[in-house]
Amino acid sequence: MSKSPIGFFDSGVGGTSVFKAVNKLLPNESTIYLADSANAPYGARGKDWIIARCIENTELLLSYGCKIIVVACNTATTNAIKILRKTYNVPFIGIEPAIKPASLKTKTRAVGILATRGTLSSELFRKTTKLYCSDVYMVEQIGEGIVDLIESGKLYSEEMTLLLQTYLKPMIKANIDYLVLGCTHYPYLVPQLKKLLPKEVKIIDSGKAVANHTEAVLRAIHLLNETDKKPKHLFYSNGRIDVIQSLISKNAKVNYLDF
Ligand code: DGL
Repeated sequence: MSKSPIGFFDSGVGGTSVFKAVNKLLPNESTIYLADSANAPYGARGKDWIIARCIENTELLLSYGCKIIVVACNTATTNAIKILRKTYNVPFIGIEPAIKPASLKTKTRAVGILATRGTLSSELFRKTTKLYCSDVYMVEQIGEGIVDLIESGKLYSEEMTLLLQTYLKPMIKANIDYLVLGCTHYPYLVPQLKKLLPKEVKIIDSGKAVANHTEAVLRAIHLLNETDKKPKHLFYSNGRIDVIQSLISKNAKVNYLDF
């Protein structure tokens, strides 16, 4: 069982940013990644749809023998992880916007959060904000259209730059010193965000925290693979193979799968 893969799923290619963080920390672990690009973005769907789809993704990963599942999507985590944990015995690792660390560290007392509508409007996000960020000015911004552009291979495009400029404007005006990326697609925007933000603004995402948590859970249940030196990494996408391939290693094999 310890040699079984870690399963990942996301509404598309963004969760590969989480895969990379986990793979960096746990290089011995085999992995299986599902990019549900045909259904991106989840943020535009209702809660019931997201839950049903997350159950289907989970069933598929379990059929491949995954020992743990990383829900590499903020929107899926905030809407469905509770039910997934109640339904299955396998451990689930979720991802949430890192607003707590940002709120603890901010000096200007203003923090920007860029996330999908599905995440920003979720109960879990509202609860976390109330609990940890009540004394901080949170500039919340829905990243409408960003996921679609990334999924259609327009990460570096004029359209993207214009969107980002619009979304960052109120944050810069509010003098934020932290920008929280609340969607796993967004770490791929860091080079562009850095160009558009004042240089003292720090950008944080939750990839490393997810990797640390995955390691801690696997260690606690004695399922870390400490022997296998040749892990396998499988990527399945029901959308554009070229887009996911452009974000991961050229040597990694991506298969089309109609799931
Ligand atoms: N990667 C997903 C997330 O982290 C994208 C959002 C979506 O599909 O709505 O939220």
